[in-house]
Amino acid sequence: MKKTTTDTSRRKFLRTTGATVVGSSLAFNVLGKNNSDFHFNSDTIKVGLIGCGGRGTGAANQAINSDPNVVLTAMADVFEESMETAYNALLDENPDKVKVAPDHKFMGFDSYKKVLESDVDVVILATPPCFRPAHLEAAIDAGKHVFFEKPVAVDAPGIRRVIATAKKAKEKNLGFMSGFCWRYDYPKRATYDRLLDGAIGDIHTVYTTYNTGALWWKETKPSWGKFKKELRNWLYYNWLSGDHIMEQAVHSLDLMSWAMGDVLPVKAVGTGGRQSRTEERFGNVYDHFSIIYEYANGEKGFHIARQQKDCSRAYHIEAMGNKGRANMEVFSKHEIMGKKNWQWEKEFSKKDKNNMYQTEHDELFASIRKGNPINDGVRAANSTMLALWGRMVAYTGESLTWDQALNSEEILGPKIDEYNWDLDWKMADVAQPGITKFK
Ligand SMILES: NC(=O)c1ccc[n+]([C@@H]2O[C@H](COP(=O)([O-])OP(=O)(O)OC[C@H]3O[C@@H](n4cnc5c(N)ncnc54)[C@H](O)[C@@H]3O)[C@@H](O)[C@H]2O)c1
Repeated sequence: MKKTTTDTSRRKFLRTTGATVVGSSLAFNVLGKNNSDFHFNSDTIKVGLIGCGGRGTGAANQAINSDPNVVLTAMADVFEESMETAYNALLDENPDKVKVAPDHKFMGFDSYKKVLESDVDVVILATPPCFRPAHLEAAIDAGKHVFFEKPVAVDAPGIRRVIATAKKAKEKNLGFMSGFCWRYDYPKRATYDRLLDGAIGDIHTVYTTYNTGALWWKETKPSWGKFKKELRNWLYYNWLSGDHIMEQAVHSLDLMSWAMGDVLPVKAVGTGGRQSRTEERFGNVYDHFSIIYEYANGEKGFHIARQQKDCSRAYHIEAMGNKGRANMEVFSKHEIMGKKNWQWEKEFSKKDKNNMYQTEHDELFASIRKGNPINDGVRAANSTMLALWGRMVAYTGESLTWDQALNSEEILGPKIDEYNWDLDWKMADVAQPGITKFK
């Protein structure tokens, strides 16, 4: 059953949400593979995907599943095989909702501009994080709603740019939703509702982990230039990924922030280094971090993250208050031991568990249709900043305040228009605390 709404409501949705008014029919019968009965209508929401890797493919699928009248019409990437793998996977999964004409598969570093110039209403940004601030700004300037993956930037000027763009999105009434997916997980929501309602009293300490093993390393071709090899393995270059505390462990820091009511700490100190992942092919990132955040009233946030092979793993959050404590193994256990003991897994069953990735898109598209699109951009930028701040104190060995970290002028990579396959960007040396200076 296709859900459709009227022309009037389409016009209303466009007017109230600031989206570009677009023509709504394409010659889909030229697409060969797309033999579906989907009919475009004036309420169809068209999505463009920028960055067709693992997460982008998943997010695009969730977007088109969020509502019967949402379709994918444009894609952008810099590696042809990523584009084709994503396109075929999406088409297999959702043959009637993937309406990407051959001339709407855009390649290259300016491919994001072509998606934005096409008639999409919503864009998904899932490239490596270094591109995010510029892509976000361009998307909002083009009047598109955006779903964007975390982290939102790799340096403080990037974070500040995202905060400004989030405000601009608000003024234009455009959706601006981040991929901090745990905020959409039902067990987390139920647990955090209780925590923020005082179930363990005033929270004074939060301890979070993101300890995993080694991550993927993708084969490269000898014929490729330096930058192509680096971008293929972007995780290992801090100017592309932000380092793993930003790229991965930022989820745990977002969970920490949520427990603290999204109040920001005032000071951070920490350590980190590179012990087991030392080969040249692993660029310049660390393989472990340990950071302590201090809040204005003396509350503390402790965070450990590592990506080291054959070590113990943990991905959890523990919150301690003056009337109890809470423990969450993020995938499996959510328990509160406080005024009243409670465990999500005891009160609910597996069927109550949601797919948080699907829920985030369901809620984003519903909010767009309602004319009150979700904008969590400032919060997402703040959570990303917590991770960047942790990286800064670990890299330099200095203790830094929030204001110092946020006002850092250090820019890690080139400007967006300078990216091309001949780029010869010299990555910073692996940071050495006490020698690497805060800038
Ligand atoms: N929320 C989550 O749980 C979650 C999970 C995984 C990844 N992520 C985030 O999603 C983002 C993408 O991660 P991934 O795992 O999909 O990585 P990936 O390497 O699989 O995908 C990135 C894609 O972007 C493409 N790309 C690179 N530069 C581009 C450019 N300038 N323009 C267009 N395309 C470009 C790459 O070719 C690749 O296809 C990262 O920010 C990552 O942190 C979030």
